[in-house]
Amino acid sequence: MKLDCFLLFVILILNKQLVHSFIPASIINFLIGKVDNITQNSFGKISETLTHEEIVRRGLAKSITKFFYDQKNGSERINLNKISNDYYDYRNIYFDYYNKTICEPKVKEIMDVELGPNVALVDIDPTTKDMPYAHFDAETFNQSNNRVINFTNAVYNYLSIKNYEKARELTAQILHTIQDFYSHSNWLEMGNTNQINKLIGTSNFSTIPVVDASVNQTCESNCTLVEVPCNNYTQLMVDFLKALNLTKILDCPIKMYRCAGNLVTLDKLVSGFYTGQRLEDGTSVPKPKNMLKCSHGGLIDVDSWLVFPKGGINKDSGYYIFSPRADLHLQSANLAISHTEYYFDQIRKWIGDKEFDNFLELTYTDAELAKISNNVTCTKSIGSTIIKFKSPVLIFNCFILYFLI
Ligand SMILES: *[C@@H]1O[C@H](CO)[C@@H](O)[C@H](O)[C@H]1NC(C)=O
Ligand SMILES: *[C@@H]1O[C@H](CO)[C@@H](O)[C@H](O)[C@H]1NC(C)=O
Ligand SMILES: *[C@@H]1O[C@H](CO)[C@@H](O)[C@H](O)[C@H]1NC(C)=O
Ligand SMILES: *[C@@H]1O[C@H](CO)[C@@H](O)[C@H](O)[C@H]1NC(C)=O
Ligand SMILES: *[C@@H]1O[C@H](CO)[C@@H](O)[C@H](O)[C@H]1NC(C)=O
Ligand SMILES: *[C@@H]1O[C@H](CO)[C@@H](O)[C@H](O)[C@H]1NC(C)=O
Ligand SMILES: *[C@@H]1O[C@H](CO)[C@@H](O)[C@H](O)[C@H]1NC(C)=O
Ligand SMILES: *[C@@H]1O[C@H](CO)[C@@H](O)[C@H](O)[C@H]1NC(C)=O
Ligand SMILES: *[C@@H]1O[C@H](CO)[C@@H](O)[C@H](O)[C@H]1NC(C)=O
Ligand SMILES: *[C@@H]1O[C@H](CO)[C@@H](O)[C@H](O)[C@H]1NC(C)=O
Ligand SMILES: *[C@@H]1O[C@H](CO)[C@@H](O)[C@H](O)[C@H]1NC(C)=O
Repeated sequence: MKLDCFLLFVILILNKQLVHSFIPASIINFLIGKVDNITQNSFGKISETLTHEEIVRRGLAKSITKFFYDQKNGSERINLNKISNDYYDYRNIYFDYYNKTICEPKVKEIMDVELGPNVALVDIDPTTKDMPYAHFDAETFNQSNNRVINFTNAVYNYLSIKNYEKARELTAQILHTIQDFYSHSNWLEMGNTNQINKLIGTSNFSTIPVVDASVNQTCESNCTLVEVPCNNYTQLMVDFLKALNLTKILDCPIKMYRCAGNLVTLDKLVSGFYTGQRLEDGTSVPKPKNMLKCSHGGLIDVDSWLVFPKGGINKDSGYYIFSPRADLHLQSANLAISHTEYYFDQIRKWIGDKEFDNFLELTYTDAELAKISNNVTCTKSIGSTIIKFKSPVLIFNCFILYFLI
């Protein structure tokens, strides 16, 4: 069996056990991300999708670019104009600063092996995937912010005892929550198109007006329902997911909500309710049926199809099938990148450059540099090793194999 197929199976089977009745976005993104444009368009693609991992990679790149700029001779070597493009590939920062090709900078490894998996974990870990506090969902602003305060305190505690690994783990996990603020709330729609919320993680967050149960309407049910006929690949995908009982909503023709202007409340922070969420003690946090509250929305959020107001407000992806505000995805992702940069900048400010260097293993000693060959050609890949499906035909074949087994 092809390795690609095998890995696809492992992921599908693993996730089947992890989730009960809905498709994790990671799977669909994983599948959809690899197919041709026509198929992508039938899932309502409007832009590329920046994952939590990619948002951390970019935010961290910006913060460490400034770090190197401030080191010895940095201002002559680091070109700040590259901060939002070339330097997203960490090798380019290192090449400019050390005049040497370093294929696997230590911080790249930290990104790929620690920060990336931990920022993604929050959507997979059974204790946090459905917990509104970990995602700024269900109008739990105060509790979500308390979670940021708690984790940040823990990060600083671990840093003070030089447990850098644990500090990195918690940093990545809480960045997930902070990033979700921008894609799950109405912060952008409130007019903050170019501005992060620096009160997140401080006690002053409570000075921002937020909705609660006393506000009986936050959204309107005036989203546009779009229907896209299936082609033979999407038909196959739909049949496959239905056969596995992984979806209740997905069917042919493919249906999705496009929302714009469905938010009624723009003078207070609002977030959406998401089917299946519950608190640590098991208390379920359903979308209220006697009020008109916003949903998170998308294919996986069953209540957003059944309970008024239909549609939703999330900006998690560039696909309408997952995100009724896919049109705002890149804008919210850019705010999340800026906040990630700010979070690392704050840590640096707090602990100083020497400890920041230790935290992220940024600099190289002359002895370390001497050991790295001068004549290397790196493989092109930036970022984590993701399995690339070259063609929809391969996925097709995998599906067929799956049914035969
Ligand atoms: C698919 O879309 C990408 C950008 O979204 C574009 O660069 C590429 O040319 C498109 N491919 C085809 C076959 O249309
Ligand atoms: C680095 O800066 C020092 C002064 O701080 C200067 O003497 C030296 O030439 C610089 N080195 C390089 C390689 O630019
Ligand atoms: C960079 O390294 C090359 C050799 O790899 C050397 O020829 C060149 O002078 C170096 N540039 C600087 C600015 O040190
Ligand atoms: C928010 O959380 C803090 C800390 O737990 C608590 O003191 C405060 O009363 C809460 N505020 C609201 C409005 O729930
Ligand atoms: C924050 O930590 C305190 C004390 O450890 C705990 O009582 C509280 O529940 C935590 N809050 C959150 C939102 O995790
Ligand atoms: C909260 O706001 C007050 C008044 O603006 C300010 O003095 C205080 O430093 C702020 N506290 C934090 C933790 O940002
Ligand atoms: C998909 O449908 C087209 C006709 O619309 C057909 O030519 C093609 O062979 C089909 N592909 C598969 C894999 O069934
Ligand atoms: C899917 O659910 C139906 C009924 O709910 C059941 O009969 C069927 O066996 C299930 N299929 C799988 C693959 O679990
Ligand atoms: C939904 O209603 C609001 C307020 O009535 C309006 O501003 C907005 O344009 C409407 N959106 C759509 C897509 O019709
Ligand atoms: C919300 O409350 C107002 C009065 O406070 C009431 O007029 C309105 O009908 C309520 N709307 C819903 C959807 O319950
Ligand atoms: C660099 O490596 C390549 C291939 O490994 C080799 O062909 C080339 O001669 C090497 N150049 C130097 C200067 O060592």
